[in-house]
Amino acid sequence: MRPPSPAKIHAALLAWYQKNARDLPWRRSRDPYPIWLSEIMLQQTRVEAVIPYFEKFLARYPNISALANAEIDELRGLWAGLGYYSRVMNLKRAAEGILENFQGEFPRSMETLRSLPGIGPYTSAAIASIAFDEKVAAVDGNLERVFSRILALPKIAKGADEIHTIAAAVAALGNAGSINQALMDLGSAICLAKTPKCEICPLASECLALAQGRAADFPLRAVKKKKLEIDAHAYLFFAKSKGNEPDKILISRRPPGAWLAGLWDIPWWIAGKDKDPSSGDIRTVGQVEVRRVITHHKINFQVKFGRVGSDKESASLEKSMRSFSNEVRWASLSEVESLPRPTRKAIDKALSFFNSR
Ligand code: ADE
Ligand code: SF4
Repeated sequence: MRPPSPAKIHAALLAWYQKNARDLPWRRSRDPYPIWLSEIMLQQTRVEAVIPYFEKFLARYPNISALANAEIDELRGLWAGLGYYSRVMNLKRAAEGILENFQGEFPRSMETLRSLPGIGPYTSAAIASIAFDEKVAAVDGNLERVFSRILALPKIAKGADEIHTIAAAVAALGNAGSINQALMDLGSAICLAKTPKCEICPLASECLALAQGRAADFPLRAVKKKKLEIDAHAYLFFAKSKGNEPDKILISRRPPGAWLAGLWDIPWWIAGKDKDPSSGDIRTVGQVEVRRVITHHKINFQVKFGRVGSDKESASLEKSMRSFSNEVRWASLSEVESLPRPTRKAIDKALSFFNSR
């Protein structure tokens, strides 16, 4: 069979999308504000779950300045149930940044969009293509699966170049917003992970995996070497701040001799190896588990979390943490983006816990 043709894929996707596009609330206008909001909500949440939240949120905060001036507690309330609270904190910060640095005009290019908090490579490409017609591909897990099948790719790592190359070639032919959304819809309705419906797929004539009769075998993942598993403990403490400010969290600099010495993170230590700072009375209210891979190790973190009210309590906590590291400080939640991803995940889980009470 001849290699898949970007031009044929492009034409087939557009024709298919015209007839089969899902009617979703954020597809009814080209205004970047609702498109942005939808893309953030859809980052870790399914379309059906997002729709009611999207509509409520948009009614309450219809534009960038309403969002920038939103009250934190109310904002969090509207997000309750969606999870991953750092997303809503980033939305507000980005809205403030757009007012401050872009005169309230939504940035129009993928590159500028990426400078806003909460907007990574995928989301910036999605917004730039859908709202501003920039000819860029938004490659997520669905697109990876579709293109790994079309190309019948041998073992790939996540984010393989071949996938980006063909996705970019198709998007470069124009109407990239529709192309990207067509691929999202195709990935969620036709090119399904376990049971692809190749018999009704508009891309069937271009699909090498189908030609080989093994569509469902792809994507083929490269086998990873087994990692050593280790247990670690961590403390995550929030201090309620005053007024319209989000909480602060206690972070420390990893002490000399510890893993990742010199980096800022919540205090964590390897069970039975590092110095344990948990002497004295430290009151926590819950515990979450997160995992992290560091080179050849897989670390399972038990993160105990709590909240301190008074200045006295926070000073005493700070003091006990100094037995672990002599650099300890309270960081605002807007700084958490610079912390490791598993730590951000633990923060989100703990915030969900507090918000659900
Ligand atoms: N997932 C992420 N963005 C989407 C969009 N614009 N439409 C449907 N599903 C999506
Ligand atoms: Fe996916 Fe089958 Fe379509 Fe290929 S033909 S893109 S495997 S649904």
